[in-house]
Amino acid sequence: MSAALAEPGASRMAVALTVNGRAVRVAAEPRSHLGDVLRDGLDLTGTHLGCEHGVCGACTILLDGEPARACLTFAGACAGAAITTIEGLDTDAIAGELRAAFNREHALQCGYCTPGMLVAARDLVLRLPEADERRIRVGLSGNLCRCTGYAGIVRAVMAVIADRRLRGIPPESGAGRALGPVGARIGGGTVTPLPLPTSPAESVAPAAVAELSASFVPAHSFTQVLDLAHPPEAVFALLGDIEAVAACLPGAVLTARPTPDTVEGGLQVRIGPIAATFRGRARIARDEAARSGSVRGAGSDAGGRSATEGRIRYRVEVGPTPGTARVALDVGYTLTGPLAQFGRPGLVRDLAGRIAAEFCRNLDARLSGVAAPAPAGLDPLRLILGLARARLAAWFGRA
Ligand code: FES
Ligand code: FES
Repeated sequence: MSAALAEPGASRMAVALTVNGRAVRVAAEPRSHLGDVLRDGLDLTGTHLGCEHGVCGACTILLDGEPARACLTFAGACAGAAITTIEGLDTDAIAGELRAAFNREHALQCGYCTPGMLVAARDLVLRLPEADERRIRVGLSGNLCRCTGYAGIVRAVMAVIADRRLRGIPPESGAGRALGPVGARIGGGTVTPLPLPTSPAESVAPAAVAELSASFVPAHSFTQVLDLAHPPEAVFALLGDIEAVAACLPGAVLTARPTPDTVEGGLQVRIGPIAATFRGRARIARDEAARSGSVRGAGSDAGGRSATEGRIRYRVEVGPTPGTARVALDVGYTLTGPLAQFGRPGLVRDLAGRIAAEFCRNLDARLSGVAAPAPAGLDPLRLILGLARARLAAWFGRA
């Protein structure tokens, strides 16, 4: 892809695309997403918009042959790309087989999810070696349907795959690519905790991991407050124990013995069929007198396609009742690459609230002397279902 040119004297830019095999030039604001440009600029209203947060999959199109979220893709970033919408699959053989199977298996009711579902399902038919129900369900887990209960959809996709394999049609040679929308192929890997050395002298040599640049300015920031029924001194002391903090933070894994001012590790994130593991290093600072501190770090996924930088500042204050503490968090972050689609401030704030609640429960358990919780993978899909439900309620207004 190449950059689009801004029109002189205007905030709109002309973007050259190939849409459904036809070269087009559309005007777009720098902030316009591809879904709006396709629907409003090119009248391709088969691309539906539901959540506009990358959650529901209704807007799924093909971007250079890979399923992608149109609602999270800036049109200006697609200059030179080939886009295929559901209209462009009218004469596609696999899409035709899927449409027939969807009809046969009652795989749609209102049809709002269906264009995105067909685009995602076509990708599975192309690449899954066999009609494996579990893999189909995982592969379609980035596409939500509020009508059907999914059983008919899964049956339809299974039937098409089974039929094609029976006819001797093999999966595409690119079947090695992970299933799912753009971003799915970047990960699935895990951070393996290294056996931690027993003394600082044995500390693991720093790996080639991302580190925060000195000039970091966060693209987004938000604040968060945690209330804990423990004295401020005890809470501040626990926040100084990085291994304990990592054990309480969902998805976090340490990969080297932390020093007083450095920590190295990873954060595992899975969003439906998309999985990524960010690995990086953070610098820690503490101010005992002010009972405050900061963590500034950077990380990237194994393929280096998505990266994040961030800083967390915290201050432990006296809580609203005697013997309690209030932790004021100030978080700033920047997320780039395919997973940036999940970095929208509203979504991140919602996630952060839920992660903070889990983190708080785990800290409370530690401070209460309850067994340390097992580190768990961060599953934003589970965490954002509440947000998705609210967004999906607005679907019918956008058809
Ligand atoms: Fe794009 Fe929901 S509208 S994922
Ligand atoms: Fe899937 Fe209605 S048929 S949302």
